[in-house]
Amino acid sequence: MKAITYDGPFHVRLRDKPFSRIEHPQDAILRVTAAGICGSDLHLLHGLVPDTRVGFTLGHEMVGVIEETGPECTGLKKGDRVLVPFQIFCGSCYYCQQGLTACCENTNPAGDLATGCYGYAHITGGYDGGQAEYVRIPFADVCAEKIPDDLSDLDALPLTDAMATGYQAAEMCGLQGDETVVVFGCGPVGLYAMRSAWLMGAGRVIAVDHVPYRLEFAKNWAGAEPLNFREVDVVSAIRSMTEDRGAHCTIDAVGCEAAGSPVQRALGIYGKLYGGSAQALNWCIHATRKGGTVSVVGVYGPPWTLLDFGTAMNKQLTIRTGQVSVKRYIPRLIDHIRAGRLQSESIFTHRLPLEEAPKAYRLFAQKKDGCIKVALFPRGEPTTIH
Ligand SMILES: NC(=O)c1ccc[n+]([C@@H]2O[C@H](COP(=O)([O-])OP(=O)(O)OC[C@H]3O[C@@H](n4cnc5c(N)ncnc54)[C@H](O)[C@@H]3O)[C@@H](O)[C@H]2O)c1
Ligand SMILES: [Zn+2]
Ligand SMILES: [Zn+2]
Repeated sequence: MKAITYDGPFHVRLRDKPFSRIEHPQDAILRVTAAGICGSDLHLLHGLVPDTRVGFTLGHEMVGVIEETGPECTGLKKGDRVLVPFQIFCGSCYYCQQGLTACCENTNPAGDLATGCYGYAHITGGYDGGQAEYVRIPFADVCAEKIPDDLSDLDALPLTDAMATGYQAAEMCGLQGDETVVVFGCGPVGLYAMRSAWLMGAGRVIAVDHVPYRLEFAKNWAGAEPLNFREVDVVSAIRSMTEDRGAHCTIDAVGCEAAGSPVQRALGIYGKLYGGSAQALNWCIHATRKGGTVSVVGVYGPPWTLLDFGTAMNKQLTIRTGQVSVKRYIPRLIDHIRAGRLQSESIFTHRLPLEEAPKAYRLFAQKKDGCIKVALFPRGEPTTIH
């Protein structure tokens, strides 16, 4: 079968691999109809994630049709159209029982720091990903969600990760109404955080990035006020927009590859302190008013980052973090999509055959050609339902 694999830093490749097969009675095999590329895939592409082995299949955002089920996968049948949250979870452990599927303790044989994840190196279990014709879905009964008939595949695809992550980012701000929220990063995650912040009652949403077309997209698609950190001193600009106090809440939707500080980049990325550059996160800390909240969904690795924690502590900031526990948000997000409050298809500026994934990675990584988000189709673009 066709699969997109990691081929060493800065290289992905289309390979022919053996077909995915049932390895455990609770597995199912998904025939992928659409797969996304996530900002997290770029951390892999750039060689920043430990234990990333050549030849594994990339991709943790996918929707498709069930092709085969294991003997203990009884809730699904061949032909069901499903979406698959990016983490793999058991549904029954201590954390899963609390809805914290992102913390499942049963799916990552490589350690207990993170849960198992599709297509995300061996530190998250070495599971092959969904940028392929087929993918194995462990614990399929709990992990795969049927897609309602009135939602298209591209409606459902952002639910697997970016939309849920942006939504959780806004939720972690604990908005009461009328707050100023600053979102660092105008990628898909940041854009969904902006739209979700409006939904949750924000009075003002400011978007920070340094890629002009992405700032423009944030303005038009998410109704945010754009701020280019190459053109202004971003912390001073935010303070001067907020009675010199700073925003009530800031969201880090950038993570470990943040630009804006040569020192952070050198130590965090080129120096391989795997935590990465904390530039966006430090700006969040400095741009939030005392007593405010910093919500972090940008990905950082262990073991450390050069974080200005003292300032956060002295300003009495609340810092909330996390990988998103996708499953618990799905019903709510489906309601928002149906009501037109969250848009899904329109985030996909690029829709390409799976074979063109190397080009897609290039455009997305280099922020070229107006690329916001890519959908890859192993068998051509599925027909839109509405
Ligand atoms: N917590 C989770 O569960 C979860 C899920 C999905 C993605 N993520 C993470 O969220 C982050 C964003 O993902 P994405 O798909 O939107 O990626 P993306 O690469 O499309 O977007 C990141 C944006 O940040 C901008 N940027 C770079 N440095 C910046 C800075 N200092 N200040 C402000 N903006 C800056 C980039 O120009 C880019 O537009 C990544 O770190 C990704 O790994 C986390
Ligand atoms: Zn992701
Ligand atoms: Zn679990």
